[in-house]
Amino acid sequence: MDSLKGRDLLSMADLTSTELHELLDLAAQLKNGTKQPKCPNKVLGLVFSKASTRTRVSFSVAMYQLGGQILDLNAGVTQVGRGEPTSDTARVLDRYLDVVAIRTFQQAEIEEFAAYANIPVINALTDLEHPCQILADLLTLRETFGSLENLTMSYLGDGNNVAHSLMLGCALAGVNIRVATPNGYAPDQTVVNQAIDLSQGRSAVIVTDDPKAAVQGSHALYTDVWASMGEESEAQSRIPQFQPYQINQSMLDLAHDQAIVLHCLPAHRGEEITHDVMEGAHSRIWDQAENRLHAQKALLAAILSEV
Ligand code: CP
Ligand code: NVA
Repeated sequence: MDSLKGRDLLSMADLTSTELHELLDLAAQLKNGTKQPKCPNKVLGLVFSKASTRTRVSFSVAMYQLGGQILDLNAGVTQVGRGEPTSDTARVLDRYLDVVAIRTFQQAEIEEFAAYANIPVINALTDLEHPCQILADLLTLRETFGSLENLTMSYLGDGNNVAHSLMLGCALAGVNIRVATPNGYAPDQTVVNQAIDLSQGRSAVIVTDDPKAAVQGSHALYTDVWASMGEESEAQSRIPQFQPYQINQSMLDLAHDQAIVLHCLPAHRGEEITHDVMEGAHSRIWDQAENRLHAQKALLAAILSEV
């Protein structure tokens, strides 16, 4: 775990397979109380240019539980919102903070921030990736099935930031990943190739436009909104093309008997997932949301101290 001290997490692919498994081990120990690391007096800055409930609150609570503090540096209340260059903001915040979590649009923006700041930079969601989410998702999968071996995850919907990090995370964790999207909404081919490379033959990486083939016998069905933040104007027009990718009871019937249903939230019930499946016996969505706290606490502890 020492290897993560002082490191950035800009992409899921910044972790090795061993580091990912160790982070999940630590998250499980934090959750069951067998480890209680402390990072007293450390300050996490939250530089968010998009809305957030789970990421903002779970990072804040994680930092308080570690004995540290947070500063909410919403772009609207800092000079970031008035266009101060990222390179300047990064060099200044570097002098005050111990770690920063950034939620923004362009991946290039957090890469630029990280290039100018010496402190660790965590991707709290960009248009390209959402690695912190996937730490919680894999933790949820692992606690349901006892390990991550011989499991298949199926993601239906938009080939977006969550899909990208999920592909990379599953590849690193040795979980088979099948992603089914409508034509025109496939995940970025560069990320697909990266996932295939990272899997090193441990697990399969499949991209298809056939949702039923994707969920056949799968251990986890995962979806996200069909239009992400910044794409709201396309939300209505996308619905007909995305409808066959909805997670509903007939899709769940094709999966493994013990399959779990995951959603990063927030959800649009009746669009990417039905109300019944979201609230049904196979849903682990609320545990998944809780696991954001444990997974990010593990990440912060590993970045800020020796654990
Ligand atoms: N899943 C997730 O990142 O939720 P928030 O947008 O509420 O942080
Ligand atoms: N893909 C979604 C995830 C929200 C947590 C978005 O970017 O809006």
